[in-house]
Amino acid sequence: MSETASLNLGDKTYELPVTTGSENEKAIDISKLRDQTGYITLDSGFKNTGCTKSAITFLDGEQGILKYRGYPIEQLAEKASFLEVAYLLIYGELPTQSELDNFQAQLSQHALLHEDYKKFYDGFPPKAHPMGQLVSLVSSLSAFSPESLNPNPSKDDINLTIIKLLAKMPTIVSWIYKGSLGEPFIYPQNKLDYVSNFMNMTFGQVTHEIEIDPVVVDAMNKLLILHADHEQNCSTSTVRIVGSSEANLYASISAGVSALWGPLHGGANQAVIEMLERIKEDGGDTDKWIAKAKDKNDSFRLMGFGHRVYKNFDPRAKIIKKACDDILAKLGINDPVLEIAKKLEAAALSDPYFVERKLYPNVDFYSGIIYRALGFPTDLFTVLFALGRLPGWIAQWKELRENKEPIGRPRQIYVGETERDVVEIAKR
Ligand code: CMC
Repeated sequence: MSETASLNLGDKTYELPVTTGSENEKAIDISKLRDQTGYITLDSGFKNTGCTKSAITFLDGEQGILKYRGYPIEQLAEKASFLEVAYLLIYGELPTQSELDNFQAQLSQHALLHEDYKKFYDGFPPKAHPMGQLVSLVSSLSAFSPESLNPNPSKDDINLTIIKLLAKMPTIVSWIYKGSLGEPFIYPQNKLDYVSNFMNMTFGQVTHEIEIDPVVVDAMNKLLILHADHEQNCSTSTVRIVGSSEANLYASISAGVSALWGPLHGGANQAVIEMLERIKEDGGDTDKWIAKAKDKNDSFRLMGFGHRVYKNFDPRAKIIKKACDDILAKLGINDPVLEIAKKLEAAALSDPYFVERKLYPNVDFYSGIIYRALGFPTDLFTVLFALGRLPGWIAQWKELRENKEPIGRPRQIYVGETERDVVEIAKR
């Protein structure tokens, strides 16, 4: 007999079906609850609410497990490139060599931006935040891709829209950086792989070819893989809810970029480095800052610490911490904020406040130190998170459309005024 949950309301008992996932995750299916009982559920912040069944990413926050399409993140970070992982997330399987070559060729074919697109960059003031630019630039792609506007696109049109976005994103991001420097844009080169091409467009010069250090490309691949998907987080569920209205891919992902920007989500990577710099300038007394983070009258939080789902450790942070040590050693960089980060981590991990609340370093705690070592400015960090998260957002949007999921529309409990009469303004 299939499992059910009993709900007692007054003198009535309702049987609610239970759904079990492939990793034995359990959910009480309340999709008919209001029709049957007149009640809704209330779950601010969706802490206990599943909004979809998805076959893309599995994570177990208690055990610190993260898998994309069944493959452990540790193995993917070790043995695959970012492009292989992007293919896996979007199409469901790791590519063969010829599938990967074909994928790379399609991306190379679409990596250029329309020359008119450059006018958008001219419109931004030099100090415009890269995330604000990215939101507009991703959304603006719809203007150059009429096939994306059809609310009921063919499979081929969906795929073309996906390829275009994935292909153009590195160009868009690199040009945001070049624009901030006032330097000429570097065009994509078909001979380079996805990540090398991005690094060349970002750090290359029109005057001469640059050598792209394989250590740097390897580090970048790892970082992008670790950010590539994370099931129903704030930005991904934003992408899905916008996509559920049949908004096009570019509009949906632009909304996801906006959601990512906040310091409680992807913006934390910028906030971590700014915090570490602040602590360094303040004399490096980590105990003082740990005390501030614990003080409920102080708005300061330890950025890069804590996670809604991970309550043991964040497996991405574990890999990044090691990668951070390796990369800094390989590049011969001694960054003083790394020492502060390690001291903060050690202090927090032995402090009852953090232990009791199960607060551990998350993906953003060490990633900024690597980005900095690779030469990226701090305000570009969250854009790099977006570049990594892009295949995940795309895969989630595609899955939602393929499964023909209904429009997302939560309910609420109204706590405002009950009905009252309008009095004309002169009599109020
Ligand atoms: N520093 C100090 N206290 C914290 C922190 C922190 N970083 N994070 C959580 N707490 C405390 C919080 O004050 C609360 O304490 P109490 O029970 O006494 O009220 C308790 O821990 C639970 O926190 P919460 O805010 O209710 O937890 P949440 O699941 O709603 O929030 C979070 C998760 C990630 C937003 C939060 O931990 C946070 O603000 N962390 C810092 C920002 C950060 O690093 N964000 C990146 C997340 S990982 C990247 C991504 O995927 O977005």
